[in-house]
Amino acid sequence: MVEGEGLLVRKIRSGVVIDHIPPGRAFTMLKALGLLPPRGYRWRIAVVINAESSKLGRKDILKIEGYKPRQRDLEVLGIIAPGATFNVIEDYKVVEKVKLKLPEESQGVLRCPNPTCITRKEREKAVSKMVLVSQDPPAYRCVYCGTTVMGDEIHDLISP
Ligand code: CTP
Ligand code: ZN
Repeated sequence: MVEGEGLLVRKIRSGVVIDHIPPGRAFTMLKALGLLPPRGYRWRIAVVINAESSKLGRKDILKIEGYKPRQRDLEVLGIIAPGATFNVIEDYKVVEKVKLKLPEESQGVLRCPNPTCITRKEREKAVSKMVLVSQDPPAYRCVYCGTTVMGDEIHDLISP
């Protein structure tokens, strides 16, 4: 628990807390999870920007009360913020804590940006498959056409 954070946002009863997010990425996460308004109005969401962090200097924190995580969330969030922690809260307690990491491969979540790729054709549409080829900076390569994407541009390729 970071000193001062409690002054801004209280503990939640149940839901998800994503902590140790690099500053600026909390909104990227909300967008990728499809939680920006109007859909996001189904949950009570707290976004803390630029909280103090002993590890990161500064960090963002995201608290989504009442949210039931979906299967693909860990993959989506791992792409955006490897190293952040994904906490599932029940009855005020942390019942699950996962350290997010870049998925080794992504099927159907990361889209290939190449407009002529078979995964982008309306007709014979194959499910996209991108494999991790570098950790830092993160880079993914399409197994179908070889297109490589890296850095922050990857965030824009997460399918809704
Ligand atoms: N949290 C919350 N509501 C709860 C329980 C925890 O909002 N009912 C938040 C905490 O404020 C923290 C995160 O969930 O931001 C993880 O909680 P916890 O594991 O107790 O904190 P730390 O030990 O500091 O976590 P870490 O080791 O991951 O830094
Ligand atoms: Zn491709």
